[in-house]
Amino acid sequence: MGPNVKKWLLAQSLAIAIVFVTGLIIVSLQSEQFNAKNCFQRVVTSLSENWFGQNCRGGIDWKFHRVDELTMEQIITYVEWANSSSCRLSHDFGGNVIFTAGVDGQKAVCLDPAVRPERASGAWPPVTKKKFNECLVYSFGIKNEWSFDEAMEALGCRVYAFDPSMNRTRHDHTSKIHFYDLGLSDRDEQRVDDQEKNWTMKSLDSIYHNLLGHQGKIIDYLKIDIERDEWIVLPQILSSGMMDRVRQMGVEIHLLSPTGNNTLDEIRQNIKTLKSLEDYGLVRFDSKFNPWSNDLKIIDNVEWWGYDAYELVWYNSKLARKGHEM
Ligand SMILES: *[C@@H]1O[C@H](CO)[C@@H](O)[C@H](O)[C@H]1NC(C)=O
Ligand SMILES: *[C@@H]1O[C@H](CO)[C@@H](O)[C@H](O)[C@H]1NC(C)=O
Ligand SMILES: *[C@@H]1O[C@H](CO)[C@@H](O)[C@H](O)[C@H]1NC(C)=O
Ligand SMILES: *[C@@H]1O[C@H](CO)[C@@H](O)[C@H](O)[C@H]1NC(C)=O
Repeated sequence: MGPNVKKWLLAQSLAIAIVFVTGLIIVSLQSEQFNAKNCFQRVVTSLSENWFGQNCRGGIDWKFHRVDELTMEQIITYVEWANSSSCRLSHDFGGNVIFTAGVDGQKAVCLDPAVRPERASGAWPPVTKKKFNECLVYSFGIKNEWSFDEAMEALGCRVYAFDPSMNRTRHDHTSKIHFYDLGLSDRDEQRVDDQEKNWTMKSLDSIYHNLLGHQGKIIDYLKIDIERDEWIVLPQILSSGMMDRVRQMGVEIHLLSPTGNNTLDEIRQNIKTLKSLEDYGLVRFDSKFNPWSNDLKIIDNVEWWGYDAYELVWYNSKLARKGHEM
């Protein structure tokens, strides 16, 4: 082997080493970028990467994104996201197992000491001499399915249940579950149609102040499942100041109208409503799609196949009890 060949070999090994190290640097830089806002971009660049995007959960900063520019894929990524590490003890309450199909009707409740419902059983440290308030639940949309309400009663809560569509008048379902035949809206009104429908509707602040006289109380859990009326109700709950009285909230949201045409702009307006809740201080710790809501819909005259309904659950960080880290 002549000296020239040796030099050539050395040069070649050096070149290989340089390429290798450069490659390593590029790869590590990229994984460095694979978080926060870049995570979002990657998640939405292709649908197949959407699954991959699960790694990103908890690390997405949605403040970087203008709602007016979101695509439908980005909207889905947004609603499917949850800050799941923000509640360590999240449990589903209620629900029925449906033979071979799944579970329906359950709602996540956060039992972390800072935000758990008052007097929740299993509370630690145990509530001792300290005077405590009775746990209070408002539950809108029952449809004769009481499993969540009964589970919350078992947890120690008094439950006010509302549904104008059940053809049942005011009664007590159990000693601690009180039923009212009225619906949740952004104002007090009668909702009448040309069939038999004549529903009494009330706003949350009207129910809380006038109907139930709950001034000063905290609603430990507000459940809302009212078939698209959530989009008129949620902004009013925020603007009326009632959000300050709600410790946890579980809402079934409906992205798409079952009949007629959806526009992307309309859907973006609803996403703005969700973002305004989170900008206010709600922390979303759970998101589940409703497996029975997979359907063909139309958005801006284009067919869209996907889930329409999601169960989103938040706790109100403004009402987190002091002295407990979340
Ligand atoms: C998730 O929730 C925690 C509070 O538990 C908060 O500090 C964090 O900023 C949240 N993350 C995102 C991405 O919203
Ligand atoms: C509602 O209930 C009443 C009896 O309580 C019954 O006469 C009526 O037919 C019911 N209406 C509907 C729409 O089911
Ligand atoms: C609807 O119900 C309200 C209150 O019960 C009643 O005052 C009103 O007359 C009813 N309207 C119709 C159209 O039946
Ligand atoms: C949607 O709107 C278009 C025109 O804007 C109309 O041609 C079509 O029939 C509508 N579809 C439904 C299901 O309403």
